[in-house]
Amino acid sequence: MRSRTINCDILIIGGGMSGCGAAWEARRWLPSSKIIIVDKANIDRSGAVAMGLSAINTYLGLKNGENTVEEYVKYVKNDLMGVVREDLVYDIGRHVDGTVHMFEEWGLPIWHDKNQPERYVREGRWQVMINGESYKSIVAEAARSAADEVYNRVAITHILRDGDGKGCGAVGFNVRDGTFYVFIAKAVVVAAGGASQIYRPRSTGEGMGRTWYPPWASGSAYGLLIDAGAVMTMMEARFTVPRYKDGYGPVGAWQLLLKARQTNAENKDCFGLHKDEIKRDFNGMGGYADAIPTPTNLRVYAVLSEMKLGHGPIYMHTEEVLTEKNEEVGWEDFLDMTISQALVWAAQNIDPTKMPSEILPSEPYVMGSHATENGAWASGPEDISKDHNPRGENDRGKLYFWGYNRMSTIDGVFLCGDACGATAHKFSSGSFTEGRIAGKSAARYIQDTGGSKGSVDKSTIEDLHDLIYSPINRYEKFRDTVTGGDVYSSLLFWKQGIVRLQKIMDEYAAGWGSFYETNEGLLNTGYRLILYLADDFEKYSAAKSYHELLRIWELYHRILTAESVMQHMMFRKESRWPGYYLRSDYPKLDDQNWKVYVNSRYNKHEKRWEVWKVPVLEIVG
Ligand code: FAD
Ligand code: ADX
Repeated sequence: MRSRTINCDILIIGGGMSGCGAAWEARRWLPSSKIIIVDKANIDRSGAVAMGLSAINTYLGLKNGENTVEEYVKYVKNDLMGVVREDLVYDIGRHVDGTVHMFEEWGLPIWHDKNQPERYVREGRWQVMINGESYKSIVAEAARSAADEVYNRVAITHILRDGDGKGCGAVGFNVRDGTFYVFIAKAVVVAAGGASQIYRPRSTGEGMGRTWYPPWASGSAYGLLIDAGAVMTMMEARFTVPRYKDGYGPVGAWQLLLKARQTNAENKDCFGLHKDEIKRDFNGMGGYADAIPTPTNLRVYAVLSEMKLGHGPIYMHTEEVLTEKNEEVGWEDFLDMTISQALVWAAQNIDPTKMPSEILPSEPYVMGSHATENGAWASGPEDISKDHNPRGENDRGKLYFWGYNRMSTIDGVFLCGDACGATAHKFSSGSFTEGRIAGKSAARYIQDTGGSKGSVDKSTIEDLHDLIYSPINRYEKFRDTVTGGDVYSSLLFWKQGIVRLQKIMDEYAAGWGSFYETNEGLLNTGYRLILYLADDFEKYSAAKSYHELLRIWELYHRILTAESVMQHMMFRKESRWPGYYLRSDYPKLDDQNWKVYVNSRYNKHEKRWEVWKVPVLEIVG
C-alpha cells in the first residue's frame, strides 16, 4: 500500500464551515506556519453547507444596536431548556458579526434592507437572508488561500496522541486510490461535523438515505474524539427538527419571514392546543415555555402530541402567504439549500400558492451547531471562563478553563462547529466563528508551548495501518464464503451494519418509529444490541473497494457515537427536551436534579464508559 507522511504545524480535520474558519484565523496568528486541511470530500462543496443555504442563522447586528450579546446568550439558553455553556455561547455572540461581514466582503450576496441600507433583511430576530447557493465555495476559496495544503478525498479514521498524551496528528486514507496518510502535527483541530444516519431515516426504498443533515455527516467528529478518549458532553440531546415532508425543506423562512401558519389537520395551532400541559411539565425553574420564542423542542413536542392524537397531517400554510408576486421567495428558499424539496413540489404537482404542504418531525440527528448541543467538552475563553472556574470533575480539576479556548480535554486537540458541545445555535456563521476561535487558540498553544513534538511509536502507526485496511484484507481472505449476493457467512458490509444500527437506535433509543420515546428497559436492551454490533464490526467488517472502506470507517464513527448517545440517555433520568425525546419512565423535566451537563469518557482499551454530572454555572444570568 502506498503511504505518505506529512508534517505540519496545525492539522485541521474537516474543511466544512468551522474547519475553513480555523484555517483562516490560524493563518493570521501564525503567518509562517504550515497549516493543513484534510477532508474526505472536496472542500469546495463539502459538509452541511454543500448545497448552499438561504439564510445565515446567527447574526446579532451589534453595530446597529439590533441585539446584545447577553440577549443572544439568554435566547440560546432558553432554547436548550437552561443547559448551555454560557461562556462558549457568549464568545460566539461577540465575534459572529465580524465573520458575516467578511463573508459579504468575499462575495456572498446578503440581502440589504431597501429603507435602511446599512441593515440586512432579517428572516427573524437572529437570522439574515442570503442568496447562498455558492456559500460553501466562497468560504472554501478563502480557506484555500489561508491553508498551505488541502488534502481532498482523504478520510481521517483515528487521531494520534504522542507519548505525553498530547494530540499530535491523525491517520486516514485516500478514498479514491487507497493511499495511507499519516499527518504529524503540533496541534489538531477537529471540525469533522455532525451525524445523520445513526437513526433510521424516514425515507425508504428508492429514497433511502435521504435526510436533513446530509447523508455524509458521519459523526466522525464524535467517533474520532471518543476513540481518542476526549470528554464528551450532552450527547443525549439528539436533535429532531420539523421539516417539510419527504424533501426535508427548512421551515425558518416560512415561519419567521413569511409568517406562515403551521396547523393540525383541523386548522388549529398545535402549540396553543398543548400550552397548559407543556407549561405544567416543562416550564422548570427557568420558565422555559413562557419565553419568546418558544424553545424549538417544545414546538416540536406540540406537533408530535397532535400527531399522536391522530390530528395529523400537520400543514404549513404556504398558500396563505405566497402570492404569484412573491412565489419566487418560496422556491428560492428551497433551491438555495434543499433542492430536494423543490423537486417534491414539482414531482407531486404541488402549487405552494394554492395548497399547503405537509410538515413532519425528522428522524433524530446527533449534532451540535443547530438547536442542540452534542459534542466534546471544551475549555472556554480566558477572560470569561477563568473567573467561573471552580474545581470541576474533569481530568484537570478545572471546570470551564484550562489554558486554551476550545481545547478539548486532550492537550493540543481543539474543537469547533458540531464537534464542540454545550454550545447550540451556532449554525453556519457561528461554526465558522468557532473555527476562527479554535484556530487562533491552536496557534497560541503552539507559540506558548511548541505543541506536540510528534513522537509516535512506529508500531502504533503500523497497527493503525493494519487496522484501517483490515476490512479489505478480510474480504480478500473470506470472499469464497459467499452465500449469494452480499451475504457471506463471516463478513459484515457497511450497508448491513448501518441498517442494523439504525433499527436498534430507532426502536430502543427513541427514534421516529417509537415516537421518540424510550425507557430504562428499552435502553438497556438496545445498548446490549449495540455492543453486539460493535463486536461484529471488530471481527467481521469487510470492504470490497476503497469507497466501501470509507463507508465502513464512517460506520465505526457512527457506532461509537451511538454508544455514547445511549450511555448519556441512560444516565439522564428526566425528560428535558420532550420534542427531541421523552423518557416515558421519567416524563417530566426535573430542574432540581438534572439542570446539569452530562459528561462522559470512553476507555477503548477496557471498553468502559464513565458518565457523570457537571454543574451548570450561570454567567450572564
Ligand atoms: P460541516 O460544515 O458539515 O463540515 C464538516 C466537514 O468535515 C465536511 O467538509 C466533511 O466532509 C468533513 N469530514 C467529515 N468526516 C470526515 C473525516 N472522517 N475525515 C475528513 N473529513 C471529514 N446554517 C445557517 O446559518 N443557515 C441556514 O439556513 C442553514 N440551513 C441548513 C440547511 C441544511 C439542509 C443543513 C444540513 C444545515 C443548515 N445549516 C444552516 C447549518 C450549518 O450548515 C451547520 O451548522 C454548519 O455547516 C456546521 O459546521 P461544521 O464545520 O461543524 O460541519
Ligand atoms: S435551517 O437551519 O435548516 O435553516 P430552520 O429553517 O428550521 O433550519 O431554522 C432557521 C432558523 O429559524 C433557526 O435559527 C431556527 O431556530 C429558527 N426558527 C425556525 N422556526 C422557528 C419558529 N417557529 N420560531 C422561532 N424560530 C424559528
